Amino acid sequence: MDMNVAKMARDADHQVVVEFEDRIAWVRINRPEKRNAISPALAAKMSETLDALETDDRCAVVVITGTGAAFHAGMDLKEFFRATDSMPADARRRLSEINSDWQWRRLLYFAKPTIAMVNGYCFGGGLNPVCACDIAIAAEEATFGVSEVNWGIVPAGNVLKLLSWVLSPRDGMWVAMSGEPFDGKKAAEIRLVNEAVPLAKLRERVREIALSFVGKNPYAVRATKHAFHRVRDMNFEDSEDYLFAKLAESRFQDPEKGRDKGMSQFLDEKSYRPGLGAYKREPK
Ligand code: ACO
Repeated sequence: MDMNVAKMARDADHQVVVEFEDRIAWVRINRPEKRNAISPALAAKMSETLDALETDDRCAVVVITGTGAAFHAGMDLKEFFRATDSMPADARRRLSEINSDWQWRRLLYFAKPTIAMVNGYCFGGGLNPVCACDIAIAAEEATFGVSEVNWGIVPAGNVLKLLSWVLSPRDGMWVAMSGEPFDGKKAAEIRLVNEAVPLAKLRERVREIALSFVGKNPYAVRATKHAFHRVRDMNFEDSEDYLFAKLAESRFQDPEKGRDKGMSQFLDEKSYRPGLGAYKREPK
């Protein structure tokens, strides 16, 4: 198999659909006949898609979702595993890296806010983007499951790491060891997702959240997300120092000088209250 990402992605050209609306990029995994299971080509296509969106001005927020009954039914057992079983270990490792790239690595530090909109089935590797996106909203009717144990493997592809990062040890052990399916309401209860809403209201709720990000200073939102991840593994002293430096950086690096605008609109113009909403930005 040719491991060139651009060439691999060509085979999945129609399996990812991107629609732009009010600077929200709706990214839809579009392989409903296979419940949006991820083949090597589809992994490459998702990676290429996220790459492009990071610098595309039509996109201020990314929403990842799926066509049909599934969000993402995990890795394609036939194409990602059985078909690659006889490949050399290095090649299989490379495939796994290509998949990790979109499923969590670049999502964790993506330059723009990301929302996982879980519309239906979400199994195994499908849990990765749910954990790695900044926000996750599920349909109450969605079905989740860390199903690896059900077919006799350990949840690899970093699923366990991401789960242990988001869930409490009690909930994480339960979902990973039992492999039991659970619905969107349960996902919200164990804080795998922020909220669960009826499927009929899912898109509207996600749109509302996405638009709230579009209205905020992108530099401040990005720096906050990156800093949140970084400080989790720092001690208190290092974290305080890092955040102080980050704050100083933001005053110099933010192209729209949000701090000055925010203070001036509050203190001088008295046109808004920072505790209740964001300052007014120039329209793009
Ligand atoms: N890998 C490969 N093919 C898949 C996958 C998958 N993960 N999920 C669905 N498909 C295929 C089926 O083989 C079937 O293909 P076919 O039409 O060529 O026979 C087609 O998608 C439709 O699947 P059905 O099982 O018929 O659909 P149904 O709606 O009844 O069930 C469900 C959907 C529950 C998602 C079921 O397909 C399923 O259990 N899929 C596997 C989920 C899973 O455990 N994923 C792996 C997680 S582990 C990991 O990601 C490392």
